[in-house]
Formats: sequence, C-alpha cells, structure tokens
Amino acid sequence: HDPKLPAYSTGDPTSFAYPTARERWPIIITQAIDDAYRTVASCNDAEKEAEGKKIVAELAQLKYEVQHDRALTPIRDDGYPDVAGYNKELEQLGPVTWLNAPWLFTECYLFRRMSTSFTLSTHWKSYDVFARQKISTFRSSRPAVLELAARYKDLVTQLRNPQAAHDPEADRLLFTEMCEVCLWGNATDLSLLTSLTYDDIQRLQGSEARRRAEKNILINDLPRVYDHLLAAKTQTQQRAAADRRVDIVLDNAGFELFVDLILAGYLLTAGLATTVVLHPKSIPWFVSDVLPADFAALLNALARPREFFETPADGDALLGRAPPSPLTDAQVDDLAFLFAEWSRFHAEGQLVLRPNRVWTGPGSYWRLPREAEALVADLREGVLTVFKGDLNYRKLVGDVAWDPTTPFSEALGPLGPGSGLNVLALRTCKADVVVGLKPGEDEKLRQTDGGGGDSGARKWAWNGKWAVVSFCKGT
Ligand code: F6P
Ligand code: MG
Repeated sequence: HDPKLPAYSTGDPTSFAYPTARERWPIIITQAIDDAYRTVASCNDAEKEAEGKKIVAELAQLKYEVQHDRALTPIRDDGYPDVAGYNKELEQLGPVTWLNAPWLFTECYLFRRMSTSFTLSTHWKSYDVFARQKISTFRSSRPAVLELAARYKDLVTQLRNPQAAHDPEADRLLFTEMCEVCLWGNATDLSLLTSLTYDDIQRLQGSEARRRAEKNILINDLPRVYDHLLAAKTQTQQRAAADRRVDIVLDNAGFELFVDLILAGYLLTAGLATTVVLHPKSIPWFVSDVLPADFAALLNALARPREFFETPADGDALLGRAPPSPLTDAQVDDLAFLFAEWSRFHAEGQLVLRPNRVWTGPGSYWRLPREAEALVADLREGVLTVFKGDLNYRKLVGDVAWDPTTPFSEALGPLGPGSGLNVLALRTCKADVVVGLKPGEDEKLRQTDGGGGDSGARKWAWNGKWAVVSFCKGT
C-alpha cells in the first residue's frame, strides 16, 4: 500500500537522504549520547547510573553501525506491538545497510531503535533524550513568542468584542494569517515569521515580513480550506449543535507547538471549530517532535513565564551571550492570557491531546486505512485534518520520486478523494519529494541560487525556505 515509484534512498548522492544519513544522523546520535551522559554524570542512584551507561554504550554502537554502513538488524522486543511491524518490513526489504536503504523507513527505524534502549531499562523508560534541546530552543525563541502572544491577545479580544465590525474579507485574511504563522513555525528559519496586527489585517494589509514569506508558498490552498470550514459552520448552524472538529497531526515541540496552539485557539474563538484534537508522538521522534510531556512543559512555561524565559538558554554562557532581560509586566500579562485561554480550552475538553503509536510507525500514511482503521474512522469524524511539517508530508505522499506536477490528491493515494478525510498539509520543504507544482516550476527553482542547478538534486527543497500548503477534500 505504498506508491509504486522508487523511494528516496540514502544511497542516492542526489537525494537529501545522502548527506542526512552520513552527516546528520551521526550528529543526532552524538547529541543523544551527550545528553544521556550528562544525566548519568549527575545521577545519584547507582542502579540508574549503571543502566544509563549501558544506554550510552548502545547508542555509541548504533552510531558505529550507521557510520560503518552495517546491516540494519531486527529491533529488540520491548513490549510494544509495533516492533513486529518494523521487523517484518525489514525482512521484506532483504538485507539492507544504513547507507543504501530507503530513506523514510530507515529514518523511522533509527528513532524507533533508539527508543528501545530506554524502554528496556527500568529507570529510563520515559526519559526523553531530546528534551534538553527542545527546551533550550524554545527559550531562544522568546522574542517571537512574546510578539505573537501580544497579538494573539489583541485578536482574541477583538473577536470577542460584539461591538467590533466584522468585515468578511478581513476575517478571511485573518484565517490566512493564522495558518501562515502556523506554517512558518515549522521552518527552522524563524526570521520568516510573519508579523501581524489586527489593525493591519483590518486594513487588508499584511505585514512586509508576511508578504515576503508569502511568495515562498508555492501552492496555497488556504482560500479553499476557509470556504470549506465556513460551509461546515453554516451547515451545522442550520442543523444546530453538531460538533465540528479539527485535528492537528503535530510536528515539533517548542515554538512550533506554540504556533499550533495559536491556530487552535484562534479556530475555537472564531467559531471555525468546536473542538481541536492534537496528535502528538509517543516516543522521542525526529529529535524535536511533540510528546505529551512537551505539551505540559509548554503550558508550565506559560504559567511561570519569568522562571522559564528569564533562565539563560543552554550554552548561552559559553557563547558569551548576555543573560535574558527581565520580562515586562505587560509581557507577563500576555503570556498569562495565553495560559488562561489554552488551559481553559483544555480543561473544558475543547482542546484535546490524543497520542497514538501509529504516528511512529515505519511507513507512509497510504497504509493507514488498512493498518489503522480505528484511527482513520476517528479522523473521519472531524471536518479537517491538518498535517504539520515535512515528515508528515513525506508520509502522506509516500516519500517517493513523484513527478512534481502530480496532483496532491493523487499522491495521497488511499487518503485522497473518497477517503472521508479532508487533508491539509502545512509543510515547509526539507526533503526531496514535492507534488502539485505547476509545469516548469521545479526546473525554474533548480536554477535559483543554491537550487541544485543541473546536479540532478532538488536542493531548493531542502532548507525550509519554500513551502507548500495543499488541501484535498476527501468527503
Ligand atoms: O532535514 C531533513 C529532515 O530531518 C527530514 O528527514 C525530516 O523529514 C525533516 O527534517 C523533519 O522535519 P519536520 O520536523 O518538519 O518534520
Ligand atoms: Mg519534526
């Protein structure tokens, strides 16, 4: 149940998989080793310390296997049923080695394998080896967090003001802005972040930053998504009281989760959704993906903003960066407002967290209707399923070499038309695969500075500078 086209491979020098496996994976494992070692060093329980050392040794072994292009070996049984699926697929692939293997499977296998070392221990079962990095990156996104917090408070106050005149065009633009804030939260380059005020939007003027970022959105289906949500709202108003649920299949913790909550809170406040269900991962995944504990950590940071944002980020002192300045009272108020809003939505069941180990499986989402029937049935109850980020996009379209002009609806396979799901992908491009482009567009982008030229590599799509916002109505 995967598309019948060649999968991107770590053995292909023109694929981003090639440097990813050779350069980025060893770094990721090294960072995990450093983190676990740091915890071991400050540990005062002998048993935990001994287990920690064993985990560090296993991670070092894993790194050795990657760098020396050893064979992928079956994952040890750690009590979770998905191990069987991983091992079965590995068997079907035949003998494969790290540096010449399907990218998507091998990268998922890498993180699944790492998690086994922890799961099989007694004292490190729920240890998140990437938590320090996630927290530290969130601390360093303080300026953008504060800016968005102030604007969110403004917007929500305006939306709730019955006296405020609501211009339908301004409302539509506000929707676009919120989705684009949420989209760019996925880019590594936070400078692409939009800057918006309610006044700007009311005057139908996006900010300079947003306009600049907007031309990097190669496909923008947001107008259709807005029409779809508005139609659902009108229909249920006529029928009275039906639930309109939006699902968000999350990507990264920290700043990206923060903007996901901005979007969720906006959809609820604007009445475009009555419930938002967030789907986090269940094991540490692709370094920065959201675990349920990251959601709690984010709310905690907002509940105690001074404690969190006035603490220097990891490594600040080493880099000679000045300690963070104290927050102003207004900034603390804005963050307190977010905390009050989001924890109320959460407490009242309008903002729900629903983990499922399906999300950390080895394959594409083409398999979901067969292999995760209950999950798909659950998603069908919603009006829209938003997939955040690059990896979710790769999984939606199968991480294979599609012609870039293939329609998104076709590349979704069984999750496309007729599936009962309305799929929206908010993706900044950080891999090879892309679909839905106009004829000639890929060729043009390859000719841009650093775009790959005639090397055969689609380099323009590797760095998060370009984005695709693709929608497919499957109901
Ligand atoms: O940079 C490449 C990469 O590691 C891909 O392997 C993966 O798809 C992506 O980044 C993760 O990005 P995101 O958090 O947007 O899914
Ligand atoms: Mg991610």
